[in-house]
Amino acid sequence: MIVFDKVSKHIGDKSILSNQSFTIENGEFFVLVGPSGSGKTTTLKMINRLIEATDGKIIIDGVQQNQLDLRQMRLSMGYVLQQIALFPNLTVAENIAVIPTMKGWHKAKIEERTRDLLNKVNLPAADYMNRYPKDLSGGEQQRVGIVRAIIGEPKVLLMDEPFSALDPITRQQLQKLTKRVHEALKMTVVFVTHDVQEAVLLADRIAVLDQGNMLQIASPKEILSHPANAYVQELFEGVQHD
Ligand SMILES: Nc1ncnc2c1ncn2[C@@H]1O[C@H](COP(=O)(O)OP(=O)(O)OP(=O)(O)O)[C@@H](O)[C@H]1O
Ligand SMILES: [Mg+2]
Repeated sequence: MIVFDKVSKHIGDKSILSNQSFTIENGEFFVLVGPSGSGKTTTLKMINRLIEATDGKIIIDGVQQNQLDLRQMRLSMGYVLQQIALFPNLTVAENIAVIPTMKGWHKAKIEERTRDLLNKVNLPAADYMNRYPKDLSGGEQQRVGIVRAIIGEPKVLLMDEPFSALDPITRQQLQKLTKRVHEALKMTVVFVTHDVQEAVLLADRIAVLDQGNMLQIASPKEILSHPANAYVQELFEGVQHD
């Protein structure tokens, strides 16, 4: 469980997140939506302490975050960014092996899991393992990024607009893949997007952020049927839910 308890972030005299309290449950698919500059990335990065809160507490599984060992905590959280930063001088397999190697896994186990996961994301291992990132398409790189983030079986997976640079078809495939991964591994996913349709498709709950304030945190169904205010209603205008 990830608890934000009256968390604020100020930079200079600018307020980026103001006094926010909310809880992300274990195993939940939690999606942060909001316009550019609303504080989504800041909120996400506070979870693994890439950004420190100015005020308030972040509590992870009952322990205040600043009491946790930073390296251990980061190893327990996978992170996927919009433009995946694969190491250009490492092959696909070597990129994927970085975290498990740090965790001290045996080579044979890493290779077995790498093959298995690459096949699962439709990158046949025999073909892709020894290629370099520059020889992959954007969508393929993003798949490798997902495999790299999940191979260590993180308890928490942080994803910051992971599909926003992709074409609609690839994007749809990776949304489905992410859903499958979440259902199979049941980790907590915190996912940032400004695409409300994507939010509705993926989320157990959606948090709508605007200017550092959570306007509403609720299931997609609840947000569509009972938007908290006119702004939320307008944001989700025309969005379909199955
Ligand atoms: N180091 C910094 N110094 C000053 N302001 C910052 C800094 N980092 C972020 N901000 C500001 O904080 C606000 C929130 O930024 P954040 O990156 O969290 O937004 P976002 O919701 O992720 O936006 P986007 O959708 O464009 O990625 C923005 O107004 C941004 O300019
Ligand atoms: Mg952002």
